[in-house]
Amino acid sequence: MSLQYNSRYPGIDDLIRKAKKKIPRFAFEYLDGGCNEDVNLHKNTIELRQVELQPYYLAKHAGSDMRTELFGQVYDAPFGISAIGLQGLMWPNAPEILAKAAFAHNIPFMLSTVTTSSIERISELTGGKFWYQLYHPTENEIRDKLINRAQDAECKVLAILCDVPTFGYRPRDIRNGLAMPPRMTLSNILQIMGRPEWAIKTLIHGQPAFANMKPYMPKGLNMKRLGEYMNKTFSGRLNEEKIAPIRDMWKGKLVLKGVAAPEDAEMAIRLGLDGIIVSNHGGRQLDAAQSTIRSLIPIVEKYKNKIKIIMDSGIRTGPDVARTIASGADFAFMGRTFMYGVAALGDEGGNHTISILKTQFKQVMEQVNCAKVADLPNHLIKTV
Ligand SMILES: Cc1cc2nc3c(=O)[nH]c(=O)nc-3n(C[C@H](O)[C@H](O)[C@H](O)COP(=O)(O)O)c2cc1C
Repeated sequence: MSLQYNSRYPGIDDLIRKAKKKIPRFAFEYLDGGCNEDVNLHKNTIELRQVELQPYYLAKHAGSDMRTELFGQVYDAPFGISAIGLQGLMWPNAPEILAKAAFAHNIPFMLSTVTTSSIERISELTGGKFWYQLYHPTENEIRDKLINRAQDAECKVLAILCDVPTFGYRPRDIRNGLAMPPRMTLSNILQIMGRPEWAIKTLIHGQPAFANMKPYMPKGLNMKRLGEYMNKTFSGRLNEEKIAPIRDMWKGKLVLKGVAAPEDAEMAIRLGLDGIIVSNHGGRQLDAAQSTIRSLIPIVEKYKNKIKIIMDSGIRTGPDVARTIASGADFAFMGRTFMYGVAALGDEGGNHTISILKTQFKQVMEQVNCAKVADLPNHLIKTV
């Protein structure tokens, strides 16, 4: 896939600025915000950027190859697209735009349980080359149905989420009365009127809906009731008794998303999981948590090569991906970065953002003189 991007928006910050102007405030704040006072949100990127890399300019240069193997699949770059809920609220069709772009660029796309495209639709678009993120349902019957649907859709990797034992406290969403579909308060109507392209596209595509959960949920949930519904429908507090039967059921690769403690990584290994995603949900759950780069270090020290270690949260750019891999992660995922791209540039946003990230990451590899992604740790000067 050739790398094409719009030179008016070469940086992720350009996309953030553009996205803010393009979509209603309630949708932008849902995407952009963290929990409580946003401490963990900001710490993720700030601390990750303390990682420094060593270039070797005079050493022999053997070229730089971004291709990376993960779970038997060779991807074109060592990063993927994380699961984001309610994507259609930020831009109509966003999950489909991103799934198509990920497929074309040969990087992984992870579909959320609570987003606006179905498992079956994403399978169609990617020929089954996608990951599915499972919020653990309270009822085993719903759990089994979702897992079977993903299995029938030939999904390759199932990610079970462990960092939402309860719904995060997100003041902006509470203030905005965020709802699916958007509630027509005077403030929301004014915000929508100020964003005509978003409004027209949403009208054409129809109101966003929870495509995967639709068969199992009541209609018209506002954010307060969505929180209650999530807490009732999903029992996000995972343990050995809940993970073990999923390991038995799921034939593909299984990863645990939301790991912050070495103890949880240890349990994932004991239960026979294939990977862990060191993640704090992009700073949306526990404001007093460590940054993910700080959580990553002791996990890498103890468990590197015992299980695949993936990291997300706070990664925004190609250099950030390089910092993550140099610190010992096998692979990186990003959530907001790609959604800023789609909110800013619509249909072009997926291709644009992946192209920027590939270009930036390759440039870092060439700059430090690194031939293979797995060699990046040889360039680590200092981690946090
Ligand atoms: C708006 C938003 C919605 C999210 N929804 C989900 C979700 O439905 N399921 C999930 O596993 N993670 C969800 N996450 C977390 C992401 O998968 C990922 O862990 C996080 O975005 C990584 O941080 P980053 O945005 O700094 O890259 C969400 C994150 C954001 C920003």
